[in-house]
Amino acid sequence: MRNVLLGASLGFFLCAAAAAPTFDPPSWVYMVAPPGADARLQDPKIYTRPGSTLALKQSVLQDPFTPPDWYPNEHPPLPALAQFGREPMVQPCIRCHLPTGTGHPESANIAGQPYEYMVRQMHDFASGARRSYGEGAAARSFNMVSIVRGMTDEEIAATARYYADLKPRKWIHVVETDTTPETHMQPTSNMRHIKPGGGMEPIGNRIVEVPLDSVGADIRDSHASFTAYVPRGSIARGLTLANTGGGGKTIACNICHGPDLKGLGDIPGIAGRSPTYMIRQMSDIQRGLRAGSSAPLMQGVVAKLTLTDMIDVTAYVGSLDP
Ligand code: HEC
Ligand code: HEC
Repeated sequence: MRNVLLGASLGFFLCAAAAAPTFDPPSWVYMVAPPGADARLQDPKIYTRPGSTLALKQSVLQDPFTPPDWYPNEHPPLPALAQFGREPMVQPCIRCHLPTGTGHPESANIAGQPYEYMVRQMHDFASGARRSYGEGAAARSFNMVSIVRGMTDEEIAATARYYADLKPRKWIHVVETDTTPETHMQPTSNMRHIKPGGGMEPIGNRIVEVPLDSVGADIRDSHASFTAYVPRGSIARGLTLANTGGGGKTIACNICHGPDLKGLGDIPGIAGRSPTYMIRQMSDIQRGLRAGSSAPLMQGVVAKLTLTDMIDVTAYVGSLDP
């Protein structure tokens, strides 16, 4: 009875706290691929990568169940499910998170995240407690939900263990700027790419996160890292917010995420992670869409943050070594 009452009042408090988003997410935060993926599968070109023995066509590279492992010697042996998945529900983890765990700004960098944290997230996706902004397949959580619902607890444990044991590595270079290369979306990926032949444009109030090796990222090369262009001055403003809480605007991140923001116990590391991924998470938590059992700890952090504050804080946190 006591627990029921406690749960009910906690639930009320959280609903109230999560009820007021401070902004409507712009399209550069929740990116959705344009149509046209089928045409790409007809591309007859054979793709290779320096230092890899593989030679593969787009029809294989983009098939959800045959993702490439370009450099099998650069990571420990993969659990079979992480590499091959199981049709039709369980797409192989490496398709999106890569064998190195670094993933792309459209998924999540899970290299070296705490095991307990990742198991909790996977159960939260399965239960519906962790959702993301957007309708149906346009929601970033859509794929994880169907993947995890097709997995056993043992498979969740084995794949989480694999990624938890990987060493995090620097994957995002954060660059302050007034102007960025023009970018566009390509079919088959929910992230931006530099527009071939494009010029420069003002960055405005945005983060523009792109691979410099666009083809490499598109064909899931785990050497094709990312650059995040951020507004000038954002890193210094973000440092103040992250370290002091900005006079009550938020709560200092190191209290929970560890002194160097690399994670603490079952709390994830945020240092060096993708800024656009982190803005999506903070916005999803603010909207009450991401509401797993530990998400309430983040409510007080995000409740008052505006989009600009999130740009600043993730520019700073993303610039740190993971
Ligand atoms: C089709 C792409 C795709 C595949 C395949 C995939 N994931 Fe994900 N994963 C995502 C996306 C996208 C997110 C971020 C979801 C969001 O923002 O709500 C994510 C998030 C996660 C998270 C939460 C990360 C965090 O920091 O909170 C974990 C853990 C995870 N995935 C593990 C796995 C494992 C293990 C597998 C294989 C069984 C897998 N994923 C397969 C796309 C994928
Ligand atoms: C009171 C504790 C606490 C504080 C302070 C805190 N966090 Fe968190 N944060 C958490 C917990 C716990 C989670 C994981 C929630 C879950 O398991 O669903 C989290 C998750 C996150 C995530 C999502 C990570 C992922 O992998 O998806 C981001 C981004 C984040 N925090 C950013 C920040 C930033 C930036 C600050 C400082 C401005 C901050 N947090 C301060 C407790 C905290």
